[in-house]
Amino acid sequence: LNVLSVASECAPLVKTGGLADVVGALPAALAHEGVGFRTLLPGYPAVLKALGDAATVYTEPNLFGGPGKLLAGTAAGLDLLVIDAPHLYDRGGSIYLSPKGRDWPDNPERFAALCWMAARIGMGAIDDWRPDVLHCHDWQAGWVPEYLHDMGGTGKVGTVMTIHNIAFQGNADAAKIPALRLRHSRMTKDGYEFWGRASALKAGLMGADKLTTVSPTYARELMTDSFGMGLDGVMRLRSADLSGILNGIDEEVWNPATDPEIKPYKTPRGKAANKAALRAEIGLDEAEGPLCVMITRLTEQKGVDLLLEAMPTLLARGGQLAVLGSGDPAFEDALRNAARNDQVAVHIGYDEALSHRMIAGGDAILVPSRFEPCGLTQLYGLRYGTIPVVGLTGGLADTVINASTAALDVQAATGIQFNPITAQSLRSALSQLCDLYADSTTWAKMQKNAMRQPVGWGPSARAYAALYRDIAPSS
Ligand code: ADP
Ligand code: GLC
Repeated sequence: LNVLSVASECAPLVKTGGLADVVGALPAALAHEGVGFRTLLPGYPAVLKALGDAATVYTEPNLFGGPGKLLAGTAAGLDLLVIDAPHLYDRGGSIYLSPKGRDWPDNPERFAALCWMAARIGMGAIDDWRPDVLHCHDWQAGWVPEYLHDMGGTGKVGTVMTIHNIAFQGNADAAKIPALRLRHSRMTKDGYEFWGRASALKAGLMGADKLTTVSPTYARELMTDSFGMGLDGVMRLRSADLSGILNGIDEEVWNPATDPEIKPYKTPRGKAANKAALRAEIGLDEAEGPLCVMITRLTEQKGVDLLLEAMPTLLARGGQLAVLGSGDPAFEDALRNAARNDQVAVHIGYDEALSHRMIAGGDAILVPSRFEPCGLTQLYGLRYGTIPVVGLTGGLADTVINASTAALDVQAATGIQFNPITAQSLRSALSQLCDLYADSTTWAKMQKNAMRQPVGWGPSARAYAALYRDIAPSS
C-alpha cells in the first residue's frame, strides 16, 4: 500500500511546531505496518539543501505563476517528493511569515500549489509510483480533494484529511478564487465557502474520504461550538468518518537513555545531574520546590498568560520556572519581565537542543493550554520522568493520568490535570504539584509511572494503516 503524505512542514528538515514532528515520524512508524510512504513538501531553501542530488520526475509549466519541478530524493531517512518552484518558496523569513512577521500575501497560492501537485501525483503523474492514498495534513493540504475532484480523480485514490489544529483554516479572499484555480460553482455551503471566504480546510473536511485528528478527546471537542472554531457543524456532519488517532513521539530522538544532548539516564535518579547542569546553564540557584519547565509557541492557545498569573503560587512555595519559547511579541515581553525574578529563567527563541536539556533537567513540565489537539511536550515529559501539569483538554486529557486520590491509591498517577482551564485552577494544580513533590515516596512513584507509560506510535500506527486500507481504491 502506497501513501503520499502532503504537508507544509516535516522534521527534522523544516519545523514550526508539532505538525512537523508527526509528519516526520509517520513514515518510520507505518513502515512496520507494511505501508510505503513518500512525503510531498514545498521546496523551501532548507529542504532543497538537505535533498542534495535528486531526479526531476515531473514538471508543471505553470504552477501558480512560474514553473514547478517535482524532485524525488531522500533526506534524513525520508523518501521525499519536493516541489522546486523558486517563485513560491525561495525566500527568507520563516516558511509562513515574511521577515516583518506577517503572513506572506501569497500563502494561499503557495499552498494551493502543494495541493495541486499532490492531486497530479494522485492522478498518476509520476511514472513508476502511484499512491493508493493521499494523506493531507492541515489547511495547507486542504485543497487536495477539491483539485482531485476537478481533475476527475475522485475515487481513483483515497484521501484522508488530518486536523492538527482547527484554529488554522487557510481562508482566502473570494477574489482569489480564479487565481487559486477553483470553481465558482463550488463556492457554496456544501462546498468550500466559509463566511464569504474560500476555506482550504473546509474544502478538505468536506471532500476527503476520511477525517482524523490527533486525539480522541479533540475529535469529540471539534464537534462542539466551543472548540470547532466555526467548523463544528462540518465536523458533526462528517462525524461518521471522523476518528481521533493519538500522536506518538519519536522514541529514538526522545530517549533519556541515549539522548546526546543530556547526561543519559534510565531511572528518575539520573535526573539530578541534569537538573544541576540545567540550573547552571540558565542561571537558577538551588531551591526547595520543583523546577517547572515549559517549551512552547507563545500564543493565546498555550495559556502563557494563565501561567504568568498563577506563577506567584509556585514561587511562594520555593518552586522555579524556566520557559523556552517564541511567538507573540506581547508574551515575549511579559516573560522577559517575569524573568527579573531570580526564581524564573526565560529563553526567547527556538532551540531544539536546549529543549532536550530542559525536559531532562526539569521536575515538571507545564502545558496550561486552553485547547490542545494532542500536544507533544507532555509526552516527552512522561518519557523523561518529568511530571506533566496540563489543562484537561484534547490530547492532554488522553495522555496524562491525573493524580486523583484513586489513581494515587493504585499507584497509577503520571501527572496533574486541571479544570476549568483558568489561572485559579492552575494555581491549585501548582500547589498540588508542590505537595506531591515534597512527598518524596509518592513523587518517585509518579516519576517511575511516567517513564513506563507508553508514548510511542504502536497502536496509532496500526489505526492509520487500517484506515488507509479501508479507503484504498483497490480494496
Ligand atoms: P504545537 O504543534 O501546537 O506547537 P506540540 O506540543 O504538538 O504543539 O508541538 C510543539 C513542538 O515544537 C514540540 O516538539 C516542542 O518541543 C517544539 N517547540 C516549540 N517551541 C519550541 C522552542 N522554542 N524551542 C524548541 N522546540 C520548541
Ligand atoms: C498541532 C497542535 C498540537 C499537536 C500537533 C501535532 O500543532 O496544536 O496539539 O500535537 O499539531 O499533531
